[in-house]
Amino acid sequence: PEEEVYSYLTPGIRKTTVEDLADKWDNLGFTIRPVNGHIKYTWQNGRWDKGAFVPAPYILLHINSGALHYGVSVFEGLKAFACKDGMVRLMNPLLNAARMQEGARKLRMPEVPSEMFVEGVSEAVKHNAEFVPPYGNNASMYVRPLLFASGEMLGLSPLAQEYTFFVTVLPAGGYFGSGAEEGVDALVMEEYDRAAPMGTGAVKAAGNYAADLEPVHESKAKGYGTTLYLDAKERRYIEEFSVCNFVGITKDGTFVTPAAGSILASTTNKMLQKLAEAEGMKVEVRPIDFDKEIESFEEVGMCGTAAVVVKVKSLTRGDKVFKTKGFDRLAKLRAKFTGIQCGDVPDEHGWMLDV
Ligand code: COI
Repeated sequence: PEEEVYSYLTPGIRKTTVEDLADKWDNLGFTIRPVNGHIKYTWQNGRWDKGAFVPAPYILLHINSGALHYGVSVFEGLKAFACKDGMVRLMNPLLNAARMQEGARKLRMPEVPSEMFVEGVSEAVKHNAEFVPPYGNNASMYVRPLLFASGEMLGLSPLAQEYTFFVTVLPAGGYFGSGAEEGVDALVMEEYDRAAPMGTGAVKAAGNYAADLEPVHESKAKGYGTTLYLDAKERRYIEEFSVCNFVGITKDGTFVTPAAGSILASTTNKMLQKLAEAEGMKVEVRPIDFDKEIESFEEVGMCGTAAVVVKVKSLTRGDKVFKTKGFDRLAKLRAKFTGIQCGDVPDEHGWMLDV
């Protein structure tokens, strides 16, 4: 029965209905709600199956699965929008497909071909079409593809017998609420690293997020909104915030973002760079020495799919607090970016894909 499918772990939970969300579209938060279901593909004997729609938000998994024991898992985050002209569109899914392929190579998993990735994402959105937030709300359908070793693994053998590729979706607002321009305070990490210089930091490996949990919780307990990680080798160069890339705007309007092989290859950052260039801003992707350069930024933002770009009000390193001066140029880029997403601004870069 349907009630049992949804309330297996949490009695009383039932599938979301559109009526449940009628007065919430502009205030959805970033939370999981049971929707119609997800798309699931299975890899066995060297190939992917055709994929299927699955209603239940649970799976039967081998207790020795590589994902559970060794973190052999990568995920993606992208969004679908109900646009002004009535069409539903995905933002740049091929960028996410490429990043997931890079992650699969790093974690020795079979790659999800781009075509299959886009098909899975589109089908997941179509099967949950009534949950795509209507145009005009501060919301989107957040799409979460996941690739993991569902097959058993005891020794660290490179290939499990089975891998699973899921696409789940949820209607969602911003990761940091609606206060993108209100901003958050960041604490610079002195006692924690996010990723090693030649490790898996650039890909969306599940373990990178596990490593961030303790530092971010500690920072929040101290009253900060997020963490900023420096490079693990020297604690000198800026790496990234918890779940977001760093972008800084200098006094002369240059868009600066750090370069390092351990920083997540953010798709949002890549697109913001293109928008900045189109605005005539200089874009620099290079190492940023925190102590020497932080004062040179008028604006600092943290960017990612869920957050888009959110103002960082202050950065605290030890007993020094650096306060940013504004958010004008980043707010303008954010408005352009979100305008393209919902069709208010022409998609000159060809990023939006019809579902
Ligand atoms: C995203 O921004 O899409 C992410 O994957 C970060 C996540 C923790 C919400």
